[in-house]
Amino acid sequence: MAPLYDIVIFGASGFTGKHVLKEALKFLSPNSPLTSLALAGRSSSKLTETLKWASKTHPTIPILVADTSDPPSLRRMASQAKLVLNCVGPFRLHSEPVVDACVEAGCDYLDICGEPEFMERMEAVYYERAVEMGSLVVSACGFDSLPAELGLMFNLKQWVSPKVPNRVQAYVSLESGKGLVANFATFESAVLGTSNADKLAKLRRSARRRARLSVIYKIGENF
Ligand SMILES: NC(=O)c1ccc[n+]([C@@H]2O[C@H](COP(=O)([O-])OP(=O)(O)OC[C@H]3O[C@@H](n4cnc5c(N)ncnc54)[C@H](OP(=O)(O)O)[C@@H]3O)[C@@H](O)[C@H]2O)c1
Repeated sequence: MAPLYDIVIFGASGFTGKHVLKEALKFLSPNSPLTSLALAGRSSSKLTETLKWASKTHPTIPILVADTSDPPSLRRMASQAKLVLNCVGPFRLHSEPVVDACVEAGCDYLDICGEPEFMERMEAVYYERAVEMGSLVVSACGFDSLPAELGLMFNLKQWVSPKVPNRVQAYVSLESGKGLVANFATFESAVLGTSNADKLAKLRRSARRRARLSVIYKIGENF
């Protein structure tokens, strides 16, 4: 069955998901690459409220009920999507079943994760199967990561061959007259990341991760 929706936003009722939805709606039109969109999450009433909050002009956007503790619901969601945009976190607690469902359905997966252990573990576990199924799994598309990525790309362009940088460090500084707050799930993700730092170190030492890294280096040598 061909996927029904270009993008399914999973976790659209959350603090971040709501804003992702609001931005996505700006691109939704029959003449744009985004012609169809659905919302997904565990509470259809919350998603309905979210849709009302995000827009008065798109009340008919479909809502799919899916819960990370219910793999068949995730498979149903993934089978209807070209791309699942996942906003359900902490990712280390919730999102491996979502990656699994997307890979098995052959749909693409993108998230706003800022948790290195989750991202690297998903790559180590799902790389071969994702290639086989034609599924693209992309993490780290949140504020944590994209400004640093854009900064790196800008930095790389400043070097004149044969000079190349071998290490770049990035810093972010946030200021606000009103004080800075983070939503609880972000705080929870950071606390879990710190308390499980040993798992990341262990993963990076593992044969599976090292094997993948050598593939990445080989690809890099061709550029
Ligand atoms: N990388 C970055 O720059 C960046 C930026 C922002 C956020 N984040 C990350 O994004 C994640 C979400 O943050 P947030 O502040 O948006 O959190 P949030 O407001 O708590 O939203 C969490 C979302 O996940 C849903 N959810 C929770 N458990 C679920 C389950 N079992 N099945 C299906 N859906 C479930 C919630 O649904 P209900 O509404 O039904 O509870 C809600 O839609 C966090 O891990 C955070 O660290 C990263």
